[in-house]
Amino acid sequence: MKKRLVLLATLLAFALSLSARSSGFKELDKWTEIWKEKCSSMFGYPVNEDSPLEGFYRWFVSSGMSKLNLNNVGDPITDEPFPLSTHYFEREVIEFFAPLYGYTKSNVWGIVTHSGTDGNNHGIYFGAKYLYNKTGKMPVVYVSDEAHYSNLRLCDLQNLDVRIIKSDAMGRMLPDELEKALDVSRPVLMVYAMGSTFKGAVDDQVALNAVLDKHPGLVVYRHVDAALFGGYLPFTEHNDLVNCVKMRYESIAISGHKFFGIDSPSGLFLCSREVYDNQNNFNVTYLNSNMRMINCSRDAIQPLKFWWLIQTVGYDNWKKQAQQMMECASYLKQQLDKIGWPAWQNEYSNTVFFKRPSAEIIERYTLALGNDERFGGELAHIVVMQHLTKKKIDIIISELQKCK
Ligand SMILES: Cc1ncc(COP(=O)(O)O)c(C=O)c1O
Repeated sequence: MKKRLVLLATLLAFALSLSARSSGFKELDKWTEIWKEKCSSMFGYPVNEDSPLEGFYRWFVSSGMSKLNLNNVGDPITDEPFPLSTHYFEREVIEFFAPLYGYTKSNVWGIVTHSGTDGNNHGIYFGAKYLYNKTGKMPVVYVSDEAHYSNLRLCDLQNLDVRIIKSDAMGRMLPDELEKALDVSRPVLMVYAMGSTFKGAVDDQVALNAVLDKHPGLVVYRHVDAALFGGYLPFTEHNDLVNCVKMRYESIAISGHKFFGIDSPSGLFLCSREVYDNQNNFNVTYLNSNMRMINCSRDAIQPLKFWWLIQTVGYDNWKKQAQQMMECASYLKQQLDKIGWPAWQNEYSNTVFFKRPSAEIIERYTLALGNDERFGGELAHIVVMQHLTKKKIDIIISELQKCK
C-alpha cells in the first residue's frame, strides 16, 4: 500500500512538473528548450543570463498585478505619483543608485529607461539643450571611433554636428586627437565611452578633461555611456571612475539587462538637477506634468524589477558578483596566454578580445566578431558576465587548444 502511494505521488509530481513546463504549444516548448540551452553558453554579448527575477514573477502573477495595465507616464522625481504608475518605486530606485554614481538625493534627476540607448538619447538630448540654453549655440559632439554605434545614430537622429575622435589601439579616445579636433568657438558635448563596444576600453576622463581645461571659456557637458561597465564598476575598487563629482560628468546611462540581469531591455539615466533645470519645458495639462523626458508612456514594470533586485540581491551581492566577474575575466585572459592564443584585455574591463577561432566555436558560444589589423586582423570577444564560470572557461580553453 505504502509503495503504491509513493509511486502515485511520484507520478503526480512528474505530471505536475511537466504541465508547469509546458506552454500547451509544441513549437513554443521546443523553442524554449533550445533557447535555454543556447543562453547558458552565450558569451559574446554583455547580457547576464542568470536573471534573478523568478520570485518577482511568482509575486507578479499571484498578486494579480499581471492583469493590470500600468504606465509610468510623467516625471517620477518632480511630479506627484501618476495614478496607475509605479513612480513611487521608480523614485526609490533612482535614490538608491544616485549615491553609487556620486549624486546626492537632492541633486539628482533620473528615470528608469527602456535601454542603454534610451539613456544615451536622454544624455545627448539633455546635453545639447543644456548647452544651447546656456550659450545660445548648438554644441559639437565629440565621441571616439570605438564608442557604441548608438551614440552616432542618436547624434544623427538629433541632427547634431559630430567629430569622431581617433582612439589608441586598445580603444581609448586619444587626448591629442581631441585637442586637434576641438572647436573652441562652440560648446562641447563629450560622450565618454565607458566600455567601448568591442575592446571594452574606458575613455580616460581625467586626461580628456585636462584637454578641455586648457580652454577656460569653453562650456562643456559630459555624458558617460556606461551601459555595461556602469553596472559593475560602482561595486569595485574602481568606483571613482563612475563618480560624477570626481570625473565631473553631468549625466550617465546604464543598462538594466546587462550586469543587473533584468530579463528584457531597461536601464537608468541619471543627471544633476542643474542639467534638469536647464531643459526645455513641455507642460502638458492633461498629464498634469512638465514632460521634460523624451518618452510619453514609459514602462512601469521595469522600475518594479529594479526595486525588487535592490531588495533581493542588493549591494553586497552585486559587489560579490562584480568581483567574481573581474576574477573570471582575468582568469580567461591568463588561460588564453597559457595556451599561446593571442588575447588582450583593457584595464577595468570584463571583456577579453582574441584571435578569432573557428566558425564552429563562434557559433557554439555566440561570440561577437571584430577586425583590427593592429592585432592581426580577425578577432572575436568574450564578455565575462555572471553566467560564465571558471569551469566553463576551462572547457572553452580546451576546445581552443584542440583547434590550434
Ligand atoms: C557601451 C554601450 N553603449 C550602448 C549600448 C546599447 O545599450 P542597449 O542595448 O541597452 O540599448 C551598449 C550595448 O551593448 C553598450 O555596450
